[in-house]
Amino acid sequence: MQSDLAIDLGTSNTRIFVENKGLEVDEPSVIAVNTEEETIISVGKEAYQMLGRTSDKKLAAYPITGGVISDFAMVEAMLKTFLKRVTKSSIGMPKAVVCVPKGITEVEKGALVNVISSSGIRKVCIIEEPVAAAIGAGIDISSPHGSLIVNIGAGTTQIAVISLGGISVSKSVKNAGNSMDEDIIKYIKKTYNMLIGKRTAEQAKIKAGSVISGTVPGTYAIKGKCLVKGMPIKVDIDAEELIEPLKKTADMIISQIQDILVETPPELLADIYTDGLTLTGGTANLKGIDKLIHEQTGLKVNTVSEPEKCVIKGCGEAIKYIDSKPSKKGGINPIIEKY
Ligand SMILES: Nc1ncnc2c1ncn2[C@@H]1O[C@H](COP(=O)(O)OP(=O)(O)O)[C@@H](O)[C@H]1O
Ligand SMILES: [Mg+2]
Repeated sequence: MQSDLAIDLGTSNTRIFVENKGLEVDEPSVIAVNTEEETIISVGKEAYQMLGRTSDKKLAAYPITGGVISDFAMVEAMLKTFLKRVTKSSIGMPKAVVCVPKGITEVEKGALVNVISSSGIRKVCIIEEPVAAAIGAGIDISSPHGSLIVNIGAGTTQIAVISLGGISVSKSVKNAGNSMDEDIIKYIKKTYNMLIGKRTAEQAKIKAGSVISGTVPGTYAIKGKCLVKGMPIKVDIDAEELIEPLKKTADMIISQIQDILVETPPELLADIYTDGLTLTGGTANLKGIDKLIHEQTGLKVNTVSEPEKCVIKGCGEAIKYIDSKPSKKGGINPIIEKY
């Protein structure tokens, strides 16, 4: 029999969990194609290496932007390639639990469901991303208790208060990992007259970035293009310089968390004051982000190991409800719709 799957088609990473096996795909959501011959060159890690290094005939791109499909054909080709690695082609199509970002439109959700169906999934079971993140972080979502989850990915940050298996209040904003990378690019350009690529900016953020002084010591070498001479150059920056560009997004996220707290009903707010909030998503790895959120909101900040895997873990847990009736009203079954 074909194993059931869980799929997290993220802006920056695609993750596929196979029932009874585990996480089998965890790779960048990138596809490289030969535009002349209309063939796929590679997907995932290999394609990521080609970003910003392509010619007029070879193109590498992220086909999902801000959690939303920006190029249907490319997403389909990418997902089909990943699915081929985890399914046995001879025995029919698998069913899958798929997370959708909270806050996307019905049209955007329809496109997501379509692309997943046309990539070879027989039944698409929808779970909301913040709910998946909460389950993956070990939170008991069905209890009558409010939990605040802050999932900071690449394209979006989703902030949600979960209680009784459903979402009470939520917000989705575009301030997340990608906007941090863009602010690093702007900072380096303004300060050093130097142009750097998105990959270089992301690597600088991961290796030397922080949002609190005293967290990352030393210097970090950045290579790019001199805007004055047009030549390649290298600059050794102080790691602490990255705090300024990175804090812009972090401060925006914190003000969104404060807005959500204002909208949260009092009983749930009381729970959150006791338990604190839980940080998930790849950007939860950013050094000092937990401390900064704690300082600015006064809330306890719970962190988990491998926060980037919470959503796929939560989707994987939901596989056991694939054949149950979906529940729109919350409860222990987190699947809300089936297509
Ligand atoms: N150690 C790290 N420090 C800071 N940011 C990180 C780190 N590791 C991953 N990220 C960022 O996390 C984001 C990816 O998180 P993920 O939850 O996988 O995103 P998505 O679900 O949107 O695809 C990227 O912007 C990436 O740069
Ligand atoms: Mg995500």
